[in-house]
Amino acid sequence: MGRRRRKGRIRWNRVFIVLFIILFIVFVIKLTNYILYNNKVYNTVVESSAKDALINKKYKKLRIYNKTIDLIKSDNVSIVIKNKNTKVYLESKNVEKNMDITVKTYNKRLHFDNFPKVKSLFIENKGIVKKSSKVEITLPKYLTKNHIVDVYGVRNDNRVNQIDLAEKVENTITIKPQKQYERYFITYIKLDDIKIKNSTVNSGSIVNLNIKYVPEVATIKDYEYTDIGDIFMINKDKKIVAKKAGKSTITIKHTYQNITKTATITVKEEKNNIEVKNGITYVNGILIANKTYSLPKDYDPGKINDDALKAFEEMRQAASKDKITLWIQSGYRSYKTQEELYNNYVKQNGKEKADTFSARPGHSEHQSGYAMDLNIIDSSFEGTKEAIWIEKNCYKYGFILRYPKGKEKITGYKYEPWHLRYLGKDLAKKVFSSGLTLEEYLGIDSKYKD
Ligand code: DAL
Ligand code: ZN
Repeated sequence: MGRRRRKGRIRWNRVFIVLFIILFIVFVIKLTNYILYNNKVYNTVVESSAKDALINKKYKKLRIYNKTIDLIKSDNVSIVIKNKNTKVYLESKNVEKNMDITVKTYNKRLHFDNFPKVKSLFIENKGIVKKSSKVEITLPKYLTKNHIVDVYGVRNDNRVNQIDLAEKVENTITIKPQKQYERYFITYIKLDDIKIKNSTVNSGSIVNLNIKYVPEVATIKDYEYTDIGDIFMINKDKKIVAKKAGKSTITIKHTYQNITKTATITVKEEKNNIEVKNGITYVNGILIANKTYSLPKDYDPGKINDDALKAFEEMRQAASKDKITLWIQSGYRSYKTQEELYNNYVKQNGKEKADTFSARPGHSEHQSGYAMDLNIIDSSFEGTKEAIWIEKNCYKYGFILRYPKGKEKITGYKYEPWHLRYLGKDLAKKVFSSGLTLEEYLGIDSKYKD
């Protein structure tokens, strides 16, 4: 027992020495860290040839010590802390001694415009919001209803929680917080860059600028064309279509940020191959009947083309699933029928007027067997749900709306929301997505000689 008691007696001097050694080791480690860390931060700054520097993402929270601050300030550099999609810019003028910088990333979607003060997007709420009370925040106008934003609530300055109970209607966000927050802020991902490519396309086709966004997940990707040159046009889907051969630049500008990009596009003339076989004109293998190209008097298929009829049936069934009823009001018309029709119209309206809506005999697409008028052959058909459905969907079944609105000068006829031309699915899709008429697409005219 006595031996044991002797062994257990505390030798304080040894304890102090051990404690001192431990403290010393800790101090040396801290000091080394301090020196290494300061060097790491500063070296990263000065090594960068640009005015900024990247700090390794492992430093999610970093303390900048006096020495580093002085160096950063004296060199007037700024630091960029990058972590996946988040970038925090710290201007040297904002750097304070002994400041902590905490980089927070939430669902890869957070982006601060500035740090530590998020000026444009920071929304202070007056006073503390009581649990379950409602807060309404009006978004800055460049974040429209189409843009996704995140809402965060801040408590005690360093606790930030994403708020799920946020509803966005137009430009107003309504928050019903479950907790109390001192203030809120809105985050979005700022677009850093837009990349577009030079290319060569065929006349009549859509110009693909191969747009790439950096970062891809940026919130606002809106851009507008500032200059598209006269060899291009913008179609109804806001796509650029090459109208004629040449070389031109296309410039796009981000709607809210100062990002402008230009690409050079070369448009090659796709030579159309016009062949006349048995008096019938084929352009790139497609039978053409318009004001320039007529069909022979004796060209008489006698009925709608079989493929066109099959395609109509497929379209009719698809439409009926959408509660749209389609029927063929006028399909194949012989030379003779067209002659009677046209002559009647001339009698009623005069030749000039008749030529705007009725084809002269031999010039009607109806004689080819590839055309059909659906439902109601009357301007009252315009804007009906059937007409809208046809315009939007007919290409999927191989048809195009042959005489579109606004293209009267090109097709030679007034708008006919009922008149379809069968081209087969591949070509119909190409013509539809180009936004061009068949004449423009093939580079041909539709004009009577007299
Ligand atoms: N209504 C069209 C143009 C025709 O008569 O063929
Ligand atoms: Zn027709």
